Order: sequence, then structure tokens, then C-alpha cells
Amino acid sequence: MTKSTIRKKILKLRKNKNLKKYKIDIPLLISILKKNNKKNFTVGGYYPVNNEISDLEILRELIKNNIKISLPVIRKNKDMNFYSWSFVEPLKINSYGIPEPIKSKIVIPDAIIVPLVAFDNNLFRLGYGGGFYDRYIAKIQKKNQIFTVGIAYSFQRINKVPVNKYDKKLNVVITEKNIIKWEFFFLGDVVGRSGCTAVKKYLPNIIIEKKIDFVVVNGENAANEGVGITEEITKDLFKSGVDVITTGNHVWDQKETLTHIDKEEKLLRPQNLIHPSPGKGFGIYNLKNGMKIGVLNLMGNVFMKNCEDVFICASKFLEKNILKKNYDFLVVDFHGEITSEKMAIGHFFDGKATLVVGTHTHVPTHDARVLISGTAYQTDAGMCGDYNSVIGMDKNNSINRFLKKNSKKHYPAEGEASLCGVIVDAINENGLANKIDHFIFGGHLKNTN
Ligand SMILES: [Fe+2]
Repeated sequence: MTKSTIRKKILKLRKNKNLKKYKIDIPLLISILKKNNKKNFTVGGYYPVNNEISDLEILRELIKNNIKISLPVIRKNKDMNFYSWSFVEPLKINSYGIPEPIKSKIVIPDAIIVPLVAFDNNLFRLGYGGGFYDRYIAKIQKKNQIFTVGIAYSFQRINKVPVNKYDKKLNVVITEKNIIKWEFFFLGDVVGRSGCTAVKKYLPNIIIEKKIDFVVVNGENAANEGVGITEEITKDLFKSGVDVITTGNHVWDQKETLTHIDKEEKLLRPQNLIHPSPGKGFGIYNLKNGMKIGVLNLMGNVFMKNCEDVFICASKFLEKNILKKNYDFLVVDFHGEITSEKMAIGHFFDGKATLVVGTHTHVPTHDARVLISGTAYQTDAGMCGDYNSVIGMDKNNSINRFLKKNSKKHYPAEGEASLCGVIVDAINENGLANKIDHFIFGGHLKNTN
């Protein structure tokens, strides 16, 4: 369909619908704006016309939250700018029939609420055809970051918006059914001091830059010795922005974890450890709008420590736990040695989990993809550790061990770490993945971000 056919179709639909029952979650929208902007930010809104979803109530709430607002003004040369406004200043109708401020000054908003005719899962927007917003965003983004929020009715979503190089993706779209797209970040095994230092140093910024909503890391090699995790490191990782920590075969290598894990809801061990074991392998956690995300930690059977059959465990799990019934999204960390077992688990969960990602080998595989029924998958996330090493451990000592020469117990390399993982776009309605990107940042591996 061409842009003009889509416009006609959606505008007709919007005109004929009874729109009173459609309500945007304003506190959610405001919390997203606050999270993604510095203090004392300004928001650009729009004056709704032609059955557009109204943002006036949102703008009023923003003022109540001491957030400054502004509205667009179009000049004769079709140049658009935002002018400050506060509901008490007069407006006049412009040549497009849209009310705009007359007596105020130009401001550069930090975030704008963008009107739209249609949008797609990649958050491309179809506007009214004038190109005002695309030109304005391009102009501002040369110097300033601008956070763009589309608000729309859910029926305005289409499969694919036809785009050209001038079209700008929105940062987020919110409909009456809530946020359309979520960003989940999974980081592979954090190894030793080097891995922990890099997570602490870079994760807070990555969360802001990539608009990450939820972070899971595998922390089973995070202790200074490269095996297990301590209570102190667990707390540090949470402070850096990690929401849930998964583990694997080394989970008990720091003895304190045997008691600490029962007190820490957000620290998981593999679900299929020999029964009974302290802790738990599955948890359900809150996303910022109250939606639920499940995190399941499993461990493979091939070349791994003795544990219960992982496929039987996964089957039992899926009998009781259903996507969109027990939780809105599900992330599965499969801690295993061999690729075939990981891939089989990926397909086993296809359509029933948002993401299945492997951990344990400490080498990122290049096979990130969305499987046939919508589950994002990568065989191994790789590690967060120093790659000038043998899977995170001192390379000379490792070589000597293979040579059966004098060597010590393995110990972590302590050079600069690479952060390795995946970022998944997930969709509200079905809890499945729209997209998965592998993520490699810093250290000895080639950056992909
Ligand atoms: Fe492991």
C-alpha cells in the first residue's frame, strides 16, 4: 500500500470509531518521559485536531509535575518550531486549521509527543505528509538529543510503514493498550573483577542510550576467582541497573550463596538442579507499568554437572506457565556447553518465550535471530570479561594446564572487558520478539555498538 492509501484508510477508521473508551495511561507516559530526560526538561505537545488522540490531558498533568510544555508553530516558509505555552496564553488558528501560540518564545523541547496517522512495530511513523516533524527532528538532532513519543490508538498500527531516508523512528509508541515495544537486555557471563568493573562502568549509560527496560545478566563467574558470585557483587550489579541475575554450574562455588540466595528474590540458580537445592530457578518480576516478566534459568545435561533432565524440567514448566497468562514476557537463560542442546531448547520454547539465550561457553555466537514462532534466540551470549584470555581465564596459565606444565588453578584475566549480550525488542500483545541484536562493546572484541 502507498502512504496515501494507508492515510485514507486509517483516517476513515479513526473518524468512524467511537473513541471515548480509548484512554492513554498518563502516569506511565510521564514516568517514561522522566526516565529518559534530564531534570527540568521541556515537552513539545500538539493541539489535537481531526480525531487525533488528545494529548491535552497529558500536557496538563505535565504542568502539574512542574514540566514545561510547548506547542508547534508553523511559519510561512513551512518551518516548524516549538513555542512555550501553559494553557493560559492565547492561541490562534493557523492556515492548516490548527491552534498555535501567538505570544511566546521559541524553545527547544527535550521530548516531543508526535501526532501520527499510522505506525509499525519498528516504530516508524506515518504522518500527514507535510514532513514537518521529520524535518524538525532532523534539524534539532544535529545539536541536541530529542526523545520522541508517539501516542496513538492501537488500530493505527500497520504491518509496515513505507519509509525513506528522511523518516525518523520514534523512541516509543504508547496506545490505550500500553507501551508497544519493550527493550530487554541480556548480558552473558560476567567474569571476575574485569567483567564486574565494565558492567558497573558502562551499564548505566547503555540503559539510558538504548532505552533499556529490563536487564538480566548471568553472574555465575562474577566473583574475583572467576567462579560463583558473592552477596556484595550481587548488590553491586543491582546498583548498576541489573534487574535479575542468573547463574549456572558454578552457582555454589562461593559458599555464602547457599544461604544468601534464599534471601535474594532476583538471584536465580538453574531450575533443574538436583532436588532439593536452595534458591529458585524461576521468578516473575514487575516491569515499570506493572506488566510481568518471567525469568527462567536452566542448565544443560551434556558435558555439565549432574542435574535433572532439562527437557523434562522445561516440559513441566511449560505445562504450568503460559505466556500472556502467567507473565507478559519470558526470558530463558540456558546455561549449557553444546550448541545442539541449546538450539533444541530454543525451538522447544519457540512461541512460548520472548527470548532464549545460551550462556556458559563465554564465546558469542553469530546466530541471533527471531525463530519461526516469534522467540528471539542466540546460541551463546558471550561473556562480559577480558577476551585476551582463554574464556576469561589467564591465557598463559590455561596453556600450561593444557601442556600439563606447572600451572595453578584457573584465575581470571584482568585486562579490559568486552560486554557481550543481546538486545531484544518485544511486543506487548503477544509477548514475543520483534527483533534481536547481538551486542558487543569494549575490550578486545570488535565493537558492534
Ligand atoms: Fe558456567
